[in-house]
Amino acid sequence: MPVSEGMISALIDLKRTGDEALVAQLTSQLRSLIASGRLGKGRTLPSSRRLASNLGVSRNTVTYAFEQLAAEGYLEASHGRRPVVKVDGGERQAAGAVASGVRSGKPRLSPWASRLKQTDWPMSYLAPLRPLRPGHGDAREFPNEVWARCLRRSAVRAAKRELGPVNRTRLREALAHYVATSRGVRASADQILILPSAQAALTLIAAVVITQGDEVWVEDPGYPGAAAAFRASGARVTGIKLDEQGMQRIPGAAAPTLIFMTPSHQHPTGRLMSLARRTEFLRLSRPGKTWIVEDDYDGEFHYDSRPVPSLQGLDAHGRVFYVGTFSKAMTSDIRLGYLVVPPALVGTLEIAQRHIGLIAASHVQEALAEFIADGHFLAHLRRMRRLYHARRDHLVEGLQRHLGEVLSVEVPSGGIQLVARLRRGGVDQAAVKRLVEAGVETRALSSLSLGRPRDHGLLLGFAAWRESEISAAVRTMASCF
Ligand SMILES: Cc1ncc(COP(=O)(O)O)c(C=O)c1O
Repeated sequence: MPVSEGMISALIDLKRTGDEALVAQLTSQLRSLIASGRLGKGRTLPSSRRLASNLGVSRNTVTYAFEQLAAEGYLEASHGRRPVVKVDGGERQAAGAVASGVRSGKPRLSPWASRLKQTDWPMSYLAPLRPLRPGHGDAREFPNEVWARCLRRSAVRAAKRELGPVNRTRLREALAHYVATSRGVRASADQILILPSAQAALTLIAAVVITQGDEVWVEDPGYPGAAAAFRASGARVTGIKLDEQGMQRIPGAAAPTLIFMTPSHQHPTGRLMSLARRTEFLRLSRPGKTWIVEDDYDGEFHYDSRPVPSLQGLDAHGRVFYVGTFSKAMTSDIRLGYLVVPPALVGTLEIAQRHIGLIAASHVQEALAEFIADGHFLAHLRRMRRLYHARRDHLVEGLQRHLGEVLSVEVPSGGIQLVARLRRGGVDQAAVKRLVEAGVETRALSSLSLGRPRDHGLLLGFAAWRESEISAAVRTMASCF
């Protein structure tokens, strides 16, 4: 029933004892009166002075409430005049829904978003880091002062810098040189896109080369972010078993549209793909028909021997995308990665990069170019390699000594994490739950499988933790088994 002007103050009930401020209470109650239709369109409200006096509040309280409702589109308010209700029936509902965040029914999602929501990739990486979460380097060891100087110089120079390319030339050149000398990648600077992360590179590749229903092969167990990106694009993703040499070919199966692999240190097992296997996959991939994505996410860290050159460097026909990231080599919050694109796709990938907006801040790109050119990047890597090597050995030794009967450790030749298998079988998810409750964060190997898990074990990070922290975590683990 419509409300007369005189009744408005009688319908407003302000609590002076609660936490909610008077303005917020008044705004919300007037909004409800309008949204419910009791104050209809064209209705003139009392003046702020009159309503304030009726309600026993200050005039400012009423004025602020009127201003807020005017900003939300409920009232017409102009200086010196009494406010007038501006919305009716349908509009009122729409305004009410927007203002109160109420949505009618479930939002209709695109197939891409629906598929992405179905992936079971946990978002735990958003939670604070706890020992021995895999996938991280030690941010505490990063030379923040040096990096800050590079950032500062780059920001100061920005005033003089011309608006330049999305992928900064200096950084492209520095990276082309770095990947050629350290990983045997063969690419010109203009094949390199600078992106906010390796995950961004996977999303971009999927957007450009995957058509709904295409077949994609990934390692099983493998990196869930890759399977998620390709599945969201509509691909049929098949997990491929591993053996000692890495991913195995499916005998007789036709080549898929895309094969995703981590040949330098298989994620999660840390195994190295043999040269014979690399050549076999390259032979299987017909140029322009089957793409290979080589994710070299932690290829900077090798401890026992010289690193094996990249698969991309073996390819003479432009079939391989090479993905790198600074998340592990520097810090995960630096948000920089890169993608070496096969020559035939550079222009298309650049267009997609712009349209999806996967562009890294120019001044950060310039700062990184300087960080690399001045030798800080390689110096940091050398130091981290020594440190992480010692931490790997420390964790291996601790696990063997205290948990040798329960866990069988696979010692990776590089990388930042390792796999320890449950010797007596059993469900790794239950073990992970116990460990997490005790303060040690690991991942179940089975959670990295696409189908029915073949492997049960724990994925343990060692790079991000000091030896004393590793020792404490191993003691905790020993008390859980
Ligand atoms: C195999 C693999 N590829 C890519 C990524 C993602 O790297 P970024 O943080 O640059 O997206 C990760 C992160 O853990 C990874 O393990």
